[in-house]
Order: sequence, then structure tokens, then C-alpha cells
Amino acid sequence: MSIILLGGSPSPNSSTSRLLQHVGNQLAPFGRRITRIEARELDPQALLAADCGEPGIARLLHLVAQAEVLVVATPVYKAAYSGLLKAVLDLLPQDGLAGKLVLPLATGGSQSHMLALDYALRPVLASMAPRSILPSIYATSDQLGRHPDGSLAPAPGIAARVALGIEQLGAELGTRHAAALAA
Ligand SMILES: Cc1cc2nc3c(=O)[nH]c(=O)nc-3n(C[C@H](O)[C@H](O)[C@H](O)COP(=O)(O)O)c2cc1C
Repeated sequence: MSIILLGGSPSPNSSTSRLLQHVGNQLAPFGRRITRIEARELDPQALLAADCGEPGIARLLHLVAQAEVLVVATPVYKAAYSGLLKAVLDLLPQDGLAGKLVLPLATGGSQSHMLALDYALRPVLASMAPRSILPSIYATSDQLGRHPDGSLAPAPGIAARVALGIEQLGAELGTRHAAALAA
């Protein structure tokens, strides 16, 4: 069982990717294999042509199919999630999130569009039948500072929100583990 970190920002210097990596670092104690996939690093032609046989796309689909947890991160673009992320989500089967826990993350320029996660991204994720979609984590660019080494220095409110998200994920994983042992 593994955890996939899926990044949906086209920006090479992405604050969304830094938030995603930060969350991924906090997930290390769960002892799962963690793989980060940035959509911008997939072959663009294969992605747009939905070429599921292309090795990078095939690997993505395999990794998502095997995963127990999917952390999905996107910048807010035009009051919704990124088109790049949608191109990836469109490759997944209709029930491609069945049995999985999903943690949505987003970054935006302001608080105005924080509901984009709820009205745009969550319904798309829900359509693929996940076991559970955890409460979303949303941060504005100015809440995502940087340490001198380039890693994320989140504002206290965001750090607390991430800690709560990790705790909720851990509780869900624990419940699942207990159910598997009892079966
Ligand atoms: C094309 C484009 C559209 C954007 N639209 C919005 C928007 O509707 N609402 C918002 O709050 N921020 C918007 N932003 C700002 C980004 O969401 C914000 O800067 C985000 O943190 C960028 O993440 P990144 O560094 O991972 O690309 C937009 C940025 C771009 C480039």
C-alpha cells in the first residue's frame, strides 16, 4: 500500500508543489511508500491525447491504482482547479479512486476562491468513488513562506491545518488497518 502525491501546477517554481512536498514529508511516519508525481513532468502530447500506453502515463495509472492514499494538489486557476490536473484526472477509470483516501490541497492568490475546492474539485474526485475525501487544505501564496533551503515555511494557521489533515488521515488509515485485522 502506498501514498501518491499528485501535483497539478504547471509552474516549475510552484508553491503548490512545495505545499504538496511539505504534506508528503509529514506523511513519512506512516511507513507507506510515498511517490510524488507532478503532472507537468508527464509527456504533454501523451497526456493531451490520453495515450494510456505511453510509459509515463501507464506508470501513473498503475501507481494510482495501487495506492491507498492520494494527495491531490492544485493551484486555483480561474476560480477552479488547474486544467493540467483535470487532464490527469480524466485519464483515471470511472471508479479509479475506489477504496482510496483522498486529501485535496490547493493554493490561490487570495481567500476569495477557497471554495473552488468544494464546488469544483471535490465533485470530480467524488465521481470516482473514493472511500473518503478528507477536509481540504487551502493556502494563499502569502501564507506559504520559504526557508533559506527553499523548503516550505507555512504560516502558523496553515501548519496547524496541515497537522490536522495528517491526524485525520492517520485516523482513517488506523480504522482501515483495524478493520483488516478483524476480518
Ligand atoms: C492563469 C492563472 C489563473 C489564476 N486564477 C486565480 C483565481 O481565480 N483565484 C485565485 O485566488 N488565484 C488565482 N491565481 C493565482 C494562483 O492560484 C496562485 O498564485 C497559486 O498559488 C499558484 O500556484 P503555483 O505556484 O503552484 O503555480 C491564478 C494564477 C494563474 C497563473
